[in-house]
Amino acid sequence: MSKITVSLIKADVGSVAGHTTVADELIKVAESNLSEAKESGLIIDFRVFKAGDDLELLMTHTKGVDSEEIHRLAWETFEKAAEKAKELKLYGAGQDLLADAFSGNVRGMGPGVAEMEFTERKAEPIIAFMMDKTEPGAFNLPIFRIFADPFNTAGLVIDPSMHQGFVFEIWDIMEHKRVFMKTPEEMYDILALIGAKSRFVIKRVFPKPGGKLPEDEPVAVISTEKLYQIAGEYVGKDDPVALVRAQSGLPAVGEVLEAFAFPHLVSGWMRGSHNGPIMPVPFRYAKCTRFDGPPRVVAAGFQLSNGKLIGPVDMFDDPAFDYTRQKAMEVAEYMRRHGPFEPHRLPREEMEYTTLPKVMEKLKERFEEI
Ligand code: 13P
Ligand code: 13P
Ligand code: MG
Ligand code: MG
Repeated sequence: MSKITVSLIKADVGSVAGHTTVADELIKVAESNLSEAKESGLIIDFRVFKAGDDLELLMTHTKGVDSEEIHRLAWETFEKAAEKAKELKLYGAGQDLLADAFSGNVRGMGPGVAEMEFTERKAEPIIAFMMDKTEPGAFNLPIFRIFADPFNTAGLVIDPSMHQGFVFEIWDIMEHKRVFMKTPEEMYDILALIGAKSRFVIKRVFPKPGGKLPEDEPVAVISTEKLYQIAGEYVGKDDPVALVRAQSGLPAVGEVLEAFAFPHLVSGWMRGSHNGPIMPVPFRYAKCTRFDGPPRVVAAGFQLSNGKLIGPVDMFDDPAFDYTRQKAMEVAEYMRRHGPFEPHRLPREEMEYTTLPKVMEKLKERFEEI
């Protein structure tokens, strides 16, 4: 059979109350639009999710990545949802739709995109991750741990079909360049880059040549849009999404999820300007109320069956993640006590589109030599 493409495309087109969550009315609009596309045969299957205030469209089809038809479908779905949001006077209606008209591809137009095309295996587990109140670099740590850290992923040590490691595609999102690097041999160099998570982000992971899986078919992909770079001013955070395939020559589903058992610090909380812990939650808790956070990650698990989505399973709906959530809240409390001080508040370079430059401008004349 032909290859399957899984596309996860998201945008914040308006929310209730403030930046808390997507209104059910918008979910209905999106579901009805994607149902029509399914009936027409354009897509094989779909699911619509809300992750905080982000409207998430998960679609399967055979059109490949960057397909104009699929991106147009996503764009039009967001436009319709944004119209509804405007009618309901939702908060930030149309926020992430930065262009007036669709021009062939949603990349660079505001929405975030994670999509990959691959040959569906005999059994194809896939997890869709969606984050709110953070940035694409928030995936660096867990994706690295899933595919490169033997203390997270036992299979790297004991599964002969993954023992050789993986290839990481890393993007410099300021310079718009990319580099392919191998684990385990280039592990320290990779960490030198991706530890700087606001600049270097893992875009895709590939199997190594000569293994069980085709080397040119990604096994993980992360959205890497930087909204403020696109818009030139602050228009909201670029809450990221990711798709990760699992099992049979890849990390097990449990190894994939294990990487989220540590609530690491990410940026994007409150006004996109604060660091805080990322908390893995079930979908029913994907609404950010405390200081508009703390940042959340949700995960929907599926088996693919000729492109049909069997699932979802709400992967973090498990008391096994209670400890992580508790730890996240201890860290959240600790960070909040810093108020406007770094490192709770983001470093100066990342506050470019806030009032900070204006304060500097205002005080310019009053600064004297010392
Ligand atoms: P972005 O999510 O960065 O736009 O990437 C999509 C892509 O590169 C598909 O080939
Ligand atoms: P979103 O990026 O999720 O819209 O949140 C914006 C914000 O600043 C909330 O405090
Ligand atoms: Mg919002
Ligand atoms: Mg959001």
